[in-house]
Amino acid sequence: MSPRKINKGLPAGAAGWKDFEKNARRRLPKFAFEYLSFGIGENVCLQRNRRDLDETVLAPNLVEESTGVNSKKTVFGQVYDSPLGVAPVGAPSIFCPEAEIALASACKKHNQPFCTATPSTTPFEALADILGPKLWFQLYPTRNKSDRIDLLGRLQGRGIETLVLTIDVPAFQWRENFARQESLAAGWRRPLALYKYPRWIIQQIKGGRLRLPNIEKYARSSRFSDGQNYIAENCIWPIGLEDLKRFRDEWPGNLVIKGITNPLVVPQVCEIGVDAIYISNHGGRQLDAAPSTMSVLREITGNVSKSVKVFVDGGVRSGIDVTRYLSHGTDLVFAGRLPYMAISGWGPKIADPLLKLMNDQIIASMTQLGCSDLSELSTFNLHGRN
Ligand SMILES: Cc1cc2nc3c(=O)[nH]c(=O)nc-3n(C[C@H](O)[C@H](O)[C@H](O)COP(=O)(O)O)c2cc1C
Repeated sequence: MSPRKINKGLPAGAAGWKDFEKNARRRLPKFAFEYLSFGIGENVCLQRNRRDLDETVLAPNLVEESTGVNSKKTVFGQVYDSPLGVAPVGAPSIFCPEAEIALASACKKHNQPFCTATPSTTPFEALADILGPKLWFQLYPTRNKSDRIDLLGRLQGRGIETLVLTIDVPAFQWRENFARQESLAAGWRRPLALYKYPRWIIQQIKGGRLRLPNIEKYARSSRFSDGQNYIAENCIWPIGLEDLKRFRDEWPGNLVIKGITNPLVVPQVCEIGVDAIYISNHGGRQLDAAPSTMSVLREITGNVSKSVKVFVDGGVRSGIDVTRYLSHGTDLVFAGRLPYMAISGWGPKIADPLLKLMNDQIIASMTQLGCSDLSELSTFNLHGRN
C-alpha cells in the first residue's frame, strides 16, 4: 500500500502521533494539554506502557497462500470491522467540544467500538443517536443505589448493551500538575494564560458551558463543578468483589471490568460472570508503580475462561501498536490519548481520516507479517516472547 493511499484525507503535516502531539501542545492551553498528556507522579507507568510496547517484537512469517487480510472482530454478538476502539475519556470538551460527536461518527462510519465516559461532556443520548447499541458506556458506579439504578435504566432505555465498569479509581490521586494549577476548572479562570489560544477559546465559546450531562441530574446543579463534586463524593471509592457481584445482578447486558492489571484477581472476577476483562492502568494516570499493560497481558489472556473476552489499552499511538497487543491474544485494543490528541491538534475533522489511517496501518502490518486473520496473530509472529 502506498503512503499516499494510507494518508488519504489527513490534513497536510499530520502524519502520525508526533505531529498530533506537537500541534496539540501548540493549540491547547497548558492545563488542558497536561490534563490529556500527563500520567501520575514521575510518569513512570505512562512511560512503561510505551517502553513495553516498543519492545514487543514481531517477526514476519511466510504466507502459505495469499488470501487477503481480515481485520474483522466479533464481540458480544456485534461484528466490528476493526479491533481498535476509542477508550472512555472524561471531560473531552476541554480538548474540543465536538470531539466525541466526531469520534462517534467516525466509529460509526468505520464500524469500530466507541466508549463514552460517565464524566463525559456530551450526553450519552446524543452519542446513542449516532451509534445505537454499538455505543459503550463507561461507569464510575455511584454508591447511591437509587441514582445508580436510575442511570442504568436510562442506559438500557437508549438501547445500550455494553457497560464498562472502571475499578481502578478507588481514590483521587495526587496529580502534581493539577495541584500546581489548583484544579481543572481553575484553568478557565486564568484569562492571561488563555489569550494565546484564540482558536481554542472560540471553540469553547461555540461549544457552550462545560457540563457533565450524564450525571447532572443527581448533582446539586448542572454546573461543571457540582458534577465534579458529585463524582468525587459518590463515585470514587474502592470497589470490591461483593460490589461487583451486586453490579452483575443490576446490569443485564454485557459487563466489562476495566482497570485490571493483576493476573491473580482474574479468576475471581471471571467467576462473577463478567463478559470481559479490560486490562488497563488508566493510561498511567492512577498508580505510578503499576505494571505496564503489555507485561501482564499474556498471563491474563492465559487465565481467563474461554467465554470471557479480553481488552487492553495503554500507549497506543499507531496501528502497529494495535497489532502488537493483538499478538498477545487480546480481543480488542483501545486508545485514549491518541484520538483526542489528534483532534486537539487538528480539529474534529481529523477523526475520520485518523481512524482510517489506524485501520490501514493494522492491515498493512498484518500483511507485512504474513498474517491473514486476527486470530492468527496470537499463535505465531511473535519474536522474543516476554
Ligand atoms: C484525559 C483522560 C481522561 C480519562 N478519563 C477516563 C474516565 O473518565 N474513565 C475511564 O475509565 N478512563 C478514563 N481515562 C483512561 C482511558 O480510558 C484509557 O484507559 C487510557 O487513556 C489508555 O491509555 P492511552 O491514553 O495511553 O491510550 C482517561 C484518560 C485520559 C487521557
